[in-house]
Parts: sequence; C-alpha cells; structure tokens
Amino acid sequence: MKSNRKSGDPASNRKGGIPFWEKMQPKKPERAIKKEAASAPKTPRISSAIKSAQSTEKGWDQVAEWYEGLVGNEGSDYHKHVIVPALMNRLGDLKGKRMIDICCGQGFLGKMLRHAGAARVQGIDASPQLIAAARQRHADDAQQHYQVADACQPGAWADGSYDLAICLMAVHDVPDLRGLFQNIGRCLSPHGRALLVFMHPCFRFPQHTHWGWDAEKQIQYRRIDRYGSEHTIHITTHPGRKNSQQTKFYHRPLPSYINALAAAGMAITGCDELFTHRRSQVGPRSRAEHFAAEEFPMFLLWELRLCPALQ
Ligand SMILES: C[S@@+](CC[C@H](N)C(=O)[O-])C[C@H]1O[C@@H](n2cnc3c(N)ncnc32)[C@H](O)[C@@H]1O
Repeated sequence: MKSNRKSGDPASNRKGGIPFWEKMQPKKPERAIKKEAASAPKTPRISSAIKSAQSTEKGWDQVAEWYEGLVGNEGSDYHKHVIVPALMNRLGDLKGKRMIDICCGQGFLGKMLRHAGAARVQGIDASPQLIAAARQRHADDAQQHYQVADACQPGAWADGSYDLAICLMAVHDVPDLRGLFQNIGRCLSPHGRALLVFMHPCFRFPQHTHWGWDAEKQIQYRRIDRYGSEHTIHITTHPGRKNSQQTKFYHRPLPSYINALAAAGMAITGCDELFTHRRSQVGPRSRAEHFAAEEFPMFLLWELRLCPALQ
C-alpha cells in the first residue's frame, strides 16, 4: 500500500465555501480564507449555465453554485494538492484511453484527463445544474460528453466500453453503494480499471471523528467515536446561515465496501492512503500536529478490476 505522506505542500488555495472535509482540519486564520476567496477566479458563463439549468433535488443540485465556486477550473485545494496527483500517479499513460468520470460534478477533471492523452471523456452526474456547468466548461472539446444520470440505477451509459472509470469523492454521497458498484463494473471493458477516491472510513466520519490533544503525552490524537455501523449524516454546507443547504454523507465500515465490490464482480488491486498537505501554523503544538497529519490518512484510493472468479 502506498501513501502520499512525504509529499507535503503547505500551500493552500481555497476557492470559496468550506467543504466538510476541510472543517475536519485545524482552523485557518479568517483573513487568509477571505484573501483566498477574493482571489478565486470568477466563471460567469458557467454560473449562468447553472442558473438556467432546471433545478431538481437530485445529486448536489441544491449546492451546485457553491460547489462550482469551490472547485472552479482547477479543482479544490484538496483536489489540486492531494487527490489529483495521487490519481494521475495511478492512472499512468492515458494515450488513446476511453474514460468515464462517474459522479463527475462540474467536470473540472475532464481537461486534465484530455491533456494527459485520454481519447474521450464521458461524465455522468445526477445534478442537472452541475452537468450544465461541465458542458459549458468543455463546450470547445468534442471529445468530452456530459450526461445527467443516476450512478446507482442501471443505464445505457454503463456499457462495458471504458478502459478507465473514475469516481472522486462521491461513493460516500450515494445512498445505494451496491447499485453504484454494479454500474462501475458494467462500465469497464474486460481489461479496464476503476479508481475511487473517498473519505477514509476508518478515520474520517463527519461529526464522529475529531482531533484531540493529550497534554500529558504532548500528542495530537484522532478520536473515533463511531465506526462499525452504517450511518447517514446530514451536512450543512454553511453552518450558522439561515436556510443553509444540506447534503448527505453515508458512512460505511470497510466490509460494506469490500462486500459490495465483490457482489459487483470487482476486486481491489491497488490501494493508497492519502494524507493532507496542510500544516498548521507554527506554535507550541505544531510539531505534534504535523506528526498527526502524517500518521492519520484523510482519503482512501482504491484501484479496482473485474475479477472473473467473482462473476
Ligand atoms: C463531492 S461531489 C464530487 C464531484 C466530483 N467528482 C469532484 O470530485 O469534484 C459529489 C457528486 O456526486 C454526485 N451524486 C450524488 N449522488 C449521485 C447519484 N446517485 N448519481 C450520480 N451522481 C450523484 C453529486 O451531484 C456531486 O456532483
């Protein structure tokens, strides 16, 4: 198993809102957050595509504008510094590959995949507004296609033709894990691979895992209050704001994931644990905080392949 833990890059490039995974990090000074938000590039054409798309309750439609502002053209802070580098490292040579980005959101990844040589990128997501953003973003590329679809329901898009399927930061957002994994398996050609990146279920469970400080031992520890059962958490995107939108987070322990993969005829053929690139500011606890940041992973990356023995 590999990890990115020595690749620390303390730079941070926040672009707007605060996703729940960032809220689980040490707090940044308010002025740094405001400065970064002010310097975030504006994408008016994409904002208007979102506004004119039909709004539904599907996927992340309710938070589409906020998510577009957070991710933009280059990805969020964590995409840029942790998730995409680990993904690209695993993807290898993409020349001529047919790729599908499942739960693609606003499609920021498409351009990177095409630059890395992908012949064609298909994106699917349940949110019509985020798909409108993806279409607008890549309107000049005839080899990128975006479609509204529920990743958990059978669909013609899962047609066994893809060399690579990607699903970033979404397996914990879908209610039906087995349905999602069945579809990922159905997308792949016999020698295809899938790559998933998601919140590490052993260490990152919103509202139930926290950092703590042991004054006697002078260590920062990770407190896990709950792990072994499936549980749904409602995440408020802007706590304290009236009528703030909510998304759902589905916590599942490892056997739920692994057994759902086996039921879909897939096996894990690679695994990386990904660590935050962020470092707290210099202070009396910073050494212990940096140590903890390098010991407790934030995301899990799995490489999957169809396994004939399981079919
Ligand atoms: C955290 S976002 C990640 C988006 C993108 N992969 C990224 O990394 O920016 C989760 C995405 O999952 C999508 N989603 C949630 N449930 C879905 C479903 N049942 N089918 C398809 N997409 C879904 C949401 O609309 C949202 O775009």
